[in-house]
Amino acid sequence: MIPTPTLESPPEDRLLADLHDLSRIVDPDKPGWSRQAFTAFDRDGRAFARRRMAEAGLETWMDGAGNVFGLLRGTGAAGGRQIMIGSHTDTVESGGRFDGIVGVLGAIEVARLLQESGVTLAHDLVVVVFFAEEANPFGLGCTGSAAITGVIRPHHLDRTDVDGRRMGDALPDAGIEPEEFLRATYDFSKVTAFLELHIEQGPNLEAQGVQIGVVETITGFARFSALFRGRQDHAGTTPMDVRADACCAAAGTILAVERIAGDRPTSRGTCGMLTFTPMAVNVVTELAEVRGEFRSDSGTWLREAEQRILEAATAEASTRGVEVEVETAADGDPTPMTPGVMGTITSVASERGLSHARMFSGAGHDTQNIALHTDVGMIFVPSVGGRSHCPEEFTETADLLRGVEVLLGSVVRIDAQNSTVRNNTSPEGATR
Ligand code: HGY
Ligand code: MN
Ligand code: MN
Repeated sequence: MIPTPTLESPPEDRLLADLHDLSRIVDPDKPGWSRQAFTAFDRDGRAFARRRMAEAGLETWMDGAGNVFGLLRGTGAAGGRQIMIGSHTDTVESGGRFDGIVGVLGAIEVARLLQESGVTLAHDLVVVVFFAEEANPFGLGCTGSAAITGVIRPHHLDRTDVDGRRMGDALPDAGIEPEEFLRATYDFSKVTAFLELHIEQGPNLEAQGVQIGVVETITGFARFSALFRGRQDHAGTTPMDVRADACCAAAGTILAVERIAGDRPTSRGTCGMLTFTPMAVNVVTELAEVRGEFRSDSGTWLREAEQRILEAATAEASTRGVEVEVETAADGDPTPMTPGVMGTITSVASERGLSHARMFSGAGHDTQNIALHTDVGMIFVPSVGGRSHCPEEFTETADLLRGVEVLLGSVVRIDAQNSTVRNNTSPEGATR
């Protein structure tokens, strides 16, 4: 039997060297690791991944939406079909070194291992770095994968950041032309499956002592912004009962988000952005803007949460004589993974003697957009202390390597399951 390539062959430090080198392409003026979309650091990060793909023998290109691709040609015994693997390299501000990055560098490692083990897939293998996966200042997330899956519409370019800048005007900073961005597509009809290796970003795998997470469902999102318009006054001479204080209306709404999310164990509510105008301790606030989101495994609950935050913001404003404009955007229902792909990941983990568990992903991923067009699956590896989106984000090397091994094994298995003519280098073919 031709052995399925395992990780013993190459030195584990190759993957760590890539992680280390990429972790140095960050904003030096911010704590932790910051490689945010629409910055030169992110552009350089995607260029780094593209260089590593080319060095690994892949044909590379970048599409009009800033997504970077690498192609490793197969034998053609799958009729020119592809298996796609990858993730993102952008980070949140002062984030970590593993979120998204593990899925990109792990995918490049899979391409190397296949070639070093003399295994040529029947499918073409496509490695992808999606542009701007993290929620960006314009309130969009998974932006590059959204562009090529038809989720992005022209009106999205008019979304503004807190300074009123349009996303369409910011795209050139990322090396992307707005018209090209809107035209970007991918022919997913030839993609047999998409697999994303990712850190869990939560505490469950570590708490249960489980090595591999097999994602069943990825969370749904409902994002909102509430702009409160009060009256600017003197903080010392204006009696409390005649104020129209936008800051207090915002504060009441933020606490309502916490209350609403508290009524369902698998739901979350967060207000990560708050701006005041003017910003002064001795002035009653005129303008306060809150931006936040709800997440849940229930699309129905998300719809209700949108309605409840609208009611809460309206009530907090009206009791204070403050006006309010609330915008909500249902940014996607919970996304189920493909049962067949989950089954493959599970068998590969089992055959390698790795403990594994099915799980819900409270984090959003590009896989949600790709799921609109083809079969998908996600492989999680443990996050130390369940921490992520912070400098403390960490995953042990052994867990990284186990994740890459399951990704590799799943790719080989899906290839064998979906190619009519078995070639003599496919390990699955040899085991039939
Ligand atoms: O926000 C998220 O869930 C992901 O990490 N982008
Ligand atoms: Mn991520
Ligand atoms: Mn993230």
